[in-house]
Amino acid sequence: MLDYFLNQPTNIIPKGLTTSILENEDAFPFHKSLSNYKPTPLYRLTDLANSYGVGSIFIKDESHRLGLNAFKGLGASFAVHKVLGKNPNVTTFCTATDGNHGRALAWAASTKGKNAVVYVPKNTAKERIDSIASEGATVVDTGENYDDTCEIAKISAIKNNWTLVQDCAWEGYEEIPAYVMAGYLTKFEEIEMQWKEFDYPKINLVLFQAGVGSWAASGIWHFVNQHRRDRPKFVIVEPYNAHGILSSFHEGKRVRPECNFDTIMAGLNCGLPSMTAWEIIRNFTDVCIRIKDEYAKEVMRELYHPSNDDPRIISGESGVGGLAGLKYLMTNPQAEPLKQHLGITANTNVLVVSTEGATDKEMFQKIVRKI
Ligand SMILES: Cc1ncc(COP(=O)(O)O)c(C=O)c1O
Repeated sequence: MLDYFLNQPTNIIPKGLTTSILENEDAFPFHKSLSNYKPTPLYRLTDLANSYGVGSIFIKDESHRLGLNAFKGLGASFAVHKVLGKNPNVTTFCTATDGNHGRALAWAASTKGKNAVVYVPKNTAKERIDSIASEGATVVDTGENYDDTCEIAKISAIKNNWTLVQDCAWEGYEEIPAYVMAGYLTKFEEIEMQWKEFDYPKINLVLFQAGVGSWAASGIWHFVNQHRRDRPKFVIVEPYNAHGILSSFHEGKRVRPECNFDTIMAGLNCGLPSMTAWEIIRNFTDVCIRIKDEYAKEVMRELYHPSNDDPRIISGESGVGGLAGLKYLMTNPQAEPLKQHLGITANTNVLVVSTEGATDKEMFQKIVRKI
């Protein structure tokens, strides 16, 4: 399979429950009402942009989000808020996670005095499990991969009459994942406010790292609505060995990829893309790529050991996904047709999000120390 897909986007907004929720729900006031809410910083990395050969790189640092070290609290908290608004008697929330969403749900449930049961796939780092448990959740290691873990969570929720808050939609399960996506939009609204600090640059390219694709789809939704025809180009970045979205592009429909799911990018280690995210991604993405773990490691080191005046950013293996995708585009000779398709020049202004900090500190230290 080719490591990339050059898409010809239709630019059509899919009609349905998810896009109607994205259009009508405003999570921003809800997030602002949380006691530990603060916008996360947006930085410009001037030296890194010079070394990559692009005009500017802007990076939003989600390690500072709600004390959770990742962006996921935005989605889980809003979904829990919406569920409890309709049914305050829910006692237990449940989810499957590769780490960050589970911690976020456990935290969101505990702030409302509710229980959480969180299912994790095999090989989840002990620190990630401990972080979920530290928010008061019961953590169950299923010993299975991510997709099968989702299935187990789904069945357990039905059996026990728990409320499943998954960040991934499928046939018949769309509303709660849409609230999760609507929660993610707060981050993009913050970015629009933060442009002022940088004299309103025109952003030409946004790279999104993807697991099931819900986060990328919410970001795409934001930029399409905010900038319409003048929207930036979009790139989806997946791990080399977990490429549900790339496979779906190649097959022309949403599919479960055939791959070994061997990657250090745990948050992106998913199979079948979210049904509703895929519809948005398919219609607006310009390029989809898969990248080897080595790119993520190199970028983690570059952010941790910045040159000259760039700030130090602590970004985890999945956190660097978008920037690692940019590194691939700018340094891999095979990416030349992709750069042309995207119109990348030395003046291109790029936006990425570091979606997590060091969520597995032992792994993080091992990677960043190796200079
Ligand atoms: C740090 C991080 N970045 C990005 C993602 C991707 O989000 P999605 O699964 O919605 O594509 C995740 C998902 O868990 C994540 O944990």
